Amino acid sequence: MNTELIDHITNLFQERFGAAPAHIARAPGRVNLLGEHVDYNNGFVLPAAIDRATYIAFSPTGSNQTTLMAVDFEQEAFFSPQTIPSKTQMDGAPLPEWAHYPAGVMWALNEDHLEAHGLNAVYTSDVPRGSGLSSSASVEMGFMIAWQNLGGWTLPSMQRALLGQKAENQYVGVNCGIMDQFASACGVENRLLLLDCRSLEWKTIPLPKDVSIVIADTKVRRKLTSGEYNKRRAACEEAVRLLKQDLPGIKSLRDVSVEDFNRLAGKLPEEVSKRARHVVEEIGRSKQAEALLEAGNIRHFGELMNECHVSLRDLYEVSCPELNIMARIAQSLDGCYGARLTGAGFGGCTVNLVAHEQAEAFSEALANSYQSETGYPPEIYITRASNGAELVR
Ligand code: GLA
Repeated sequence: MNTELIDHITNLFQERFGAAPAHIARAPGRVNLLGEHVDYNNGFVLPAAIDRATYIAFSPTGSNQTTLMAVDFEQEAFFSPQTIPSKTQMDGAPLPEWAHYPAGVMWALNEDHLEAHGLNAVYTSDVPRGSGLSSSASVEMGFMIAWQNLGGWTLPSMQRALLGQKAENQYVGVNCGIMDQFASACGVENRLLLLDCRSLEWKTIPLPKDVSIVIADTKVRRKLTSGEYNKRRAACEEAVRLLKQDLPGIKSLRDVSVEDFNRLAGKLPEEVSKRARHVVEEIGRSKQAEALLEAGNIRHFGELMNECHVSLRDLYEVSCPELNIMARIAQSLDGCYGARLTGAGFGGCTVNLVAHEQAEAFSEALANSYQSETGYPPEIYITRASNGAELVR
């Protein structure tokens, strides 16, 4: 819990609105260990909520007006249920992009006839934006908790995640899967989360003993990520459409075995075939995760992470030179079981599984080598799996 940030937004709230906030909500970012770009193909994912989060100080306004102060953007926005559909503020000005996430949550709640009362809020985050750690899902899940608290209704955490995904798909306009909102809503301290994205059944798995999860931020941010993301998703849908000619029973790439895919891949256009191969093989890898972790076979699990990186780089083509450098250096260092890009890609962070007693030395060596090869000072930290979105006060 970042008490410094909580104090900061509490003070700002007091200054801006003339009273202490009624509550503080916290919603974490996430890191994903295995199962990348498979959630929207009904596969399995293995994320954890991390100890970096969005913090929201809020109070009800007693009217239908919502006023938000986004500390990290040094901007304010104000809207109501009437202005939300047109993405405008109460004075008719367009809503700034950062406000689409909280406004999208209110929109999704209104669509589902759940009360979302006007609130005043000041919020900030220590999840780095655009880094593949789901800062936007953490904003959505934080506001979901705020509106749940004021609305007098209670939804199970998975339902809150699904509404957040609906906000992102239909209001923000990114065709994301369920993984990020799920991890931010359902996180459990010191546990990994294993989600079947088809049935939405999930369970927790203890973090393997004696290993640390190290996050390495390349500091590279790519623009136009959402356009590329939506294209990848469309390629997967195209693969299913074409493969159905031979496999009429399939509904998604989850239903295609590696053997069937190998037999039929030649019938697909080259690019579609590469994208689909990543997904089919990655679902195969993620299916092995639970048994490997239970058996304490971290070495093999780490190899699957390394294979995942190669596949994201060469088949799914969502990596970038800096992510490749970061993963390559990490894989060569002592104590590293596996390293790969995490999240959507195109920049952002790698996730590394590292022997606990070597994690500090690993982080330092990785930072030094990465900076001398690329010129960028990276940010590297050992993370802890945390609880999901909650009211902290
Ligand atoms: C983004 C999306 C997720 C998921 C990942 C890739 O984070 O929001 O739904 O598709 O990319 O695994």
